[in-house]
Amino acid sequence: MSDKSKTYFIRTFGCQQNLADSERIAGMLEEKGYKKAKSLDDADYIIINTCMVREQAEDRIYGLVRNIRLKRKNKQPKIVISGCLPGAAEREPSREFAKKIKIRLSGCELLLNEKIGLKCPAVRGNKRHALVPISNGCNNFCSYCIVPYSRGREISRPFKDIIEEVKKLAKEGYEEITLLGQNVNSYRADIVNSKLYKLPDGRRIKPVLVKHLGKTRIPTLFPYLLDAICQISGIKKVNFLSSNPWDFSDELIEVIAKNEKINRHIHLPVQSGDDKILFKMNRHYSSKEYLDLVKKIKKRIPQASFGTDIIVGFPGETEKAFKNTVKLCQKVGFEVAYIGKYSPRPGTASKQNFPDDVSSEEKNRRFHILDNQINKKKQNLRIIRQ
Ligand code: 5AD
Ligand code: SF4
Repeated sequence: MSDKSKTYFIRTFGCQQNLADSERIAGMLEEKGYKKAKSLDDADYIIINTCMVREQAEDRIYGLVRNIRLKRKNKQPKIVISGCLPGAAEREPSREFAKKIKIRLSGCELLLNEKIGLKCPAVRGNKRHALVPISNGCNNFCSYCIVPYSRGREISRPFKDIIEEVKKLAKEGYEEITLLGQNVNSYRADIVNSKLYKLPDGRRIKPVLVKHLGKTRIPTLFPYLLDAICQISGIKKVNFLSSNPWDFSDELIEVIAKNEKINRHIHLPVQSGDDKILFKMNRHYSSKEYLDLVKKIKKRIPQASFGTDIIVGFPGETEKAFKNTVKLCQKVGFEVAYIGKYSPRPGTASKQNFPDDVSSEEKNRRFHILDNQINKKKQNLRIIRQ
């Protein structure tokens, strides 16, 4: 990607993290002199920023590439694939996926996430609300998830770089910030160890026992980063996505409780409410531990509301196991749930070890039950009131 006076267009699939990456890819291209095209049909360079969490999302990529090739028969654009797909092709251990895309995406260039880097200035879509990635990748290897391959191991941005970026954004007039990471609240779990740790402001923090790791380590530095972001004048609202239950520390709850600027809606993926399924998913908590955490947060922050991610039809999910998820959802009273039907992904432990034994009709049925219970709840209430 080097030719000047050319145009680009980015089509983004998937999560907010991909949206933030697209803003940096745009920054990278504009620094090199590329101009944004009006649409996909006019661009010399088309960047498809991909999501791979489910097979359906992957199929959309092949469909889009095929359509572009057919539509632009006379003047073929250069197609660059970024996001989850190139990483999965590079790191998926069986190499099956790399072979598949060599055929299905021949002629396309692959751009790995690590080539974009977090230092690159972003071309932002919104002038008031900025997406700020604080880490990339994941070390958790939930058994169904391709992200540890597609994005690689977790790497956190330096504290100073993030603070500087947010100060600059505040000066430019941004009032709302969303901090992003696959496990946003594990921020700097890569450097924390078993010794007393000195924070950038001189405070020292003590190690604690981290149950799922079975060892003592410093609580992650996310609460301190969040607190520091809230002190930046001009910033009026702070959100963070996506937090995981096992790094939701007491320090983090305290920081949220103390800072009015932090959004009281907490996205806390549970994935399932059944202990056997949670164990097979490699989630390191039981349904009771999840509920206890929600209770603890609600006690300290009474206005807190919750959103979640749930997978229905995970291998071996019986009717009883599904009902346990339904019950957990009733107990929490989620405001919103992103419900995914289980999809076996290349290289993942669940694909290798468990047959995909819940039929697609049953996955659909379970999806609709939860969707009606959680997401359509307000709509249903409105209909009843009318
Ligand atoms: N099948 C279905 N849903 C999945 N997710 C991740 N991997 C899969 C899979 N193989 C969902 C999880 C995660 C969200 C980003 O995507 O719920 O939290
Ligand atoms: Fe995937 Fe689990 Fe990492 Fe989330 S925590 S990105 S679900 S492996």
